[in-house]
Amino acid sequence: MSSKPAETSKQKRITVPSLTAMKANGEKITLLTAYDYSMARLVDEAGVEVILVGDSLGTAVQGHRTTLPVTLDQMIYHAEMVVRAVERALVIVDLPFPCTVLGPMRAIEDAARCFKETGCQAVKLEGGVERAEVISALTKAGMPVMAHVGLVPQSVHRLGGYRVQRDRDQLIADAKATEEAGAFAVVLECISADISKEITAELTIPTIGIGAGNGCDGQVLVLYDLLGLIPGRVPRHVKVYADLGKIMVEAVSAYKADVRSGDFPSSDQSFS
Ligand code: KIV
Repeated sequence: MSSKPAETSKQKRITVPSLTAMKANGEKITLLTAYDYSMARLVDEAGVEVILVGDSLGTAVQGHRTTLPVTLDQMIYHAEMVVRAVERALVIVDLPFPCTVLGPMRAIEDAARCFKETGCQAVKLEGGVERAEVISALTKAGMPVMAHVGLVPQSVHRLGGYRVQRDRDQLIADAKATEEAGAFAVVLECISADISKEITAELTIPTIGIGAGNGCDGQVLVLYDLLGLIPGRVPRHVKVYADLGKIMVEAVSAYKADVRSGDFPSSDQSFS
C-alpha cells in the first residue's frame, strides 16, 4: 500500500529567505508539526511552508505531561524520518530541554548534531532576552534559528502552568531580543492578540502565532491537535479540522467485528 513520495513534485524548496520574503510580501506562512515519515509526507503534500519537528513530541506522541522528558537523541530519531519524507517544506527541529540553557557551546554542539544527523534546515529554541547569546552564537555558526517566546513549555514549572502570557513589556523585549540576536523568525505562543499584533508590526522577521490571534505573519499548530488525535479537552487556540481519532476508532472496531464474524479476510483479500 505505501509508496515513496511522488517524484513529480518539482515545486521550489522553501528556504529561510523564502519566509523573510513572504513577510515582506504580506503572505501568511503556514507551519505544522510532524514527527514521522508518513505524516510528514502528507503534510508536505498539502503544501505547508514549514514542518516543525517539535518537542511537543513528548505530549503528542510519547504520552508525557510536559515536553521536559524529550531527549536530543529522540528529536534526532524523529527528525530523520521527517526529513526523509519532505521534498518542499523547510524542516525545523526543536532543541529540547536542556540543550539551550547550558550555554552557547553546548547549544552549538547539540544544534550541529541536528543539522549533521538529520539534514534539517533550521533549529528552534525557547526563550527571549535570556537566550539572546545562544541565538547569536548559533546564527554566527551558520545555523538558522527560529525563536519561541510567550508561553514557553520547557519553562512550564516556572510559569506555573500553561497560561496565556500578558506581560506586554517583557514580551516585546523578548521578541525584539530574538530579532537583534539574529533569529530568522519567532513563535509567539499564547499571547494576547493585541500584544502579538504590536510585536508583529515592530519586527522585520516573521512572527508565527499559536494562540496569539490572527495578527501574526503565520500560524503553527500541533498536527495531532488539528487532526483530532489528542483525546480530552480541546485547547481554546486549537481548531480541529478533522476528527480522525473518532474515524480511527470506528475503523478499528469495524475490523474487529469483521474478524469476529469471519467477514475478514474475504476471498478478495485471500490468495488461491
Ligand atoms: O513543540 C512544538 O510543537 C512547538 C510548537 C507548538 C510551536 O513548539
